[in-house]
Amino acid sequence: MKKLVVLTGAGMSAESGISTFRDAGGLWEQHRIEDVATPEAFRKNPELVLRFYNERRKQLLTVQPNYGHKGLEKLEKYFDVQIITQNVDNLHEQAGSSNILHLHGELMKVRSTGQGAEVYNIDPRNIDIIVGDKCTKGYQLRPHIVWFGEAVPEIETAIDIVKQADIFVIIGTSMQVYPAAGLINYVPKGVPVYLIDPNEVSVNSPNITVLKKGAIEGVKELTNLICK
Ligand code: APR
Repeated sequence: MKKLVVLTGAGMSAESGISTFRDAGGLWEQHRIEDVATPEAFRKNPELVLRFYNERRKQLLTVQPNYGHKGLEKLEKYFDVQIITQNVDNLHEQAGSSNILHLHGELMKVRSTGQGAEVYNIDPRNIDIIVGDKCTKGYQLRPHIVWFGEAVPEIETAIDIVKQADIFVIIGTSMQVYPAAGLINYVPKGVPVYLIDPNEVSVNSPNITVLKKGAIEGVKELTNLICK
């Protein structure tokens, strides 16, 4: 089977009702990155940071995967599909996709701030993490999220996956955040690239087919194009 590698961003989940970051009305218009999404912010005001992610988690529990997520799962019949997502939601998992790499962490997990940085699943019945919630060794828990200014531990794995792509697909990302945006540079020469986004996104690739659509319509059209 050919390897289909898909890089997804916030636009993938937009039609499920999760707002993107940089579109008009997006999350970063409502919150300052430096207040809620950096290690400094967590040191300065952990309550605010924890509350921000508690709200994200609460919202996640109200939404469902859309037909774009589900369409990617269906493509597993025809391709060895590997999803690399910048999203911290679990909608690809809920849609049933088998191979998902989270570059920027996962909302439904927490991590110890201690040396071991142990990761724990969050019980969906108890999603609020507060100051004083500790790991088994007594260290404060933090969201299992890659904040601005932090390393992206999974990037090397992602690069290795992209290097093996027979088809590369980009869905719903403004391609403004590195190192994720740099993954395009590892797509092997001659491999077709598809970009699904209703807005203009600047991607430098000689073999690109742009589907200027939302994720749901875009995945449908992609399926028609590559499953012929
Ligand atoms: N379908 C597909 N794409 C859409 C849709 C839709 N229905 N609606 C909007 N988009 C596109 C926008 O045009 C934009 O190109 O989704 C993209 C969203 O871009 P961003 O808000 O910048 O999100 P993303 O690229 O995922 O951000 C990357 O930045 O804030 C950090 O860690 C966070 O993972 C995130 C990273």
